[in-house]
Amino acid sequence: MVSARDLLESVIRRMSVFKNKDALYPEYVPDRLPHREEQLKQLAEIFRVMITAPGTASARAMLVGGVGVGKTVTARVFGNVLSNLAREQGIELRYIHINCHRDRTLYEVVAEMVRQVGAPIPLRGLSPREMMLALMNYMERHNLYALVTLDEFDYFVSVAGNDAVYFIVRLYDEYPDAKKRMSFVFIARNLSSLDYLDPATMSYILKHVIKFEPYRSSELFDILADRRDRAFHEGTVDDDVLQYIADTEGVDKGGEGNARAAIETLLLAGEAADYEHSHRVTIEHVRKALSHVHHDIVRIADALPYLQLHELLLLKAIVRVLRRKNEPYARIGEVEDEYRNLCPLYGEEPRKHTQVYEYVNNLKKMGIIEARVSGKGFRGRSTLISVIAPLDALEKQVDALIEKRLSRIR
Ligand SMILES: Nc1ncnc2c1ncn2[C@@H]1O[C@H](COP(=O)(O)OP(=O)(O)OP(=O)(O)O)[C@@H](O)[C@H]1O
Ligand SMILES: [Mg+2]
Repeated sequence: MVSARDLLESVIRRMSVFKNKDALYPEYVPDRLPHREEQLKQLAEIFRVMITAPGTASARAMLVGGVGVGKTVTARVFGNVLSNLAREQGIELRYIHINCHRDRTLYEVVAEMVRQVGAPIPLRGLSPREMMLALMNYMERHNLYALVTLDEFDYFVSVAGNDAVYFIVRLYDEYPDAKKRMSFVFIARNLSSLDYLDPATMSYILKHVIKFEPYRSSELFDILADRRDRAFHEGTVDDDVLQYIADTEGVDKGGEGNARAAIETLLLAGEAADYEHSHRVTIEHVRKALSHVHHDIVRIADALPYLQLHELLLLKAIVRVLRRKNEPYARIGEVEDEYRNLCPLYGEEPRKHTQVYEYVNNLKKMGIIEARVSGKGFRGRSTLISVIAPLDALEKQVDALIEKRLSRIR
């Protein structure tokens, strides 16, 4: 039922349909996870030892499933609740979430663990092994425990390699007398990325696999209904609007089963309604939203925050070259020139050619750009770069992230 006050306010003040848009943003962590109860229960079974007999075993689980099926959010919610429960038992258990898209090397992963635990360990001049040892000592001295999630773990596997993975996952083989203060959650979209690990490491990681299936339409409906109640004024979004979105995304209706895309569509539909000063979100607004939610773009927007400063600068250079040329492709040489001109504007030293090449490969691997080698032209072969996202929107986001990175450094 719409409250009279809500109704009157929305008409008189021509308010937004939103009361709390934040609840529709990707970084929002809900306190309820409809249809992930089974996964939460399995996690609880595996990690209960951290509370019932802390220090006796290092538990681990591997979460596997496709795009937007709730792996990250489930790990976060689980970690937060577990550390609260632990605290009530007088156990100091920290939840640490590391995105291996951003922290790709063993050094970066261990340094991030140190940072999130808040251990005063100097990061410069120490090897990952030394840092880890210092971290373990710190945790021992302060009687701390940690549940560490390595999200997008497939990325770590492919960049850091077998030895690094071995070091992390077999930590306590190396220090058999240490109290087992850390347990691990690994997250990956599929298991094929683990294929080239040695079988012992692999079977260690795969001891407990928790599967996340794509959402069905009825499940998406429940997830959307939860978000609607948090994000929108009462009575502005009817069930049939949610049903329509759920049916386009639901795996049983031929969709991807991606909750991120469903929530993003709801957000955009609300924005379309606001734009038209409409007091309600209609199916027509959803249609408009759907034509905007090109799935690739949602995915790219999600990946951008994990880029390093110079990857962002390079991406900006790509956007500028593409816009200037008004052609579908930019040559890597042109992009590199543009990048070299851009760097000084931000007070940054341009990176060397080989490093720039690495960045291009990485952006490609993350699906943010497309890159291919041209046919042989009169100047020989060259790498051609293109992007699928609209340039203006992309540059705006990239600019905002560059500002953020720079303000963090300075
Ligand atoms: N069961 C659920 N209840 C509420 N919100 C959910 C649920 N599942 C997913 N979401 C929301 O959908 C979005 C996508 O979920 P999440 O980021 O966890 O996906 P993912 O499986 O990690 O995908 P990716 O592989 O692309 O990283 C997030 O905004 C998340 O909060
Ligand atoms: Mg994720």
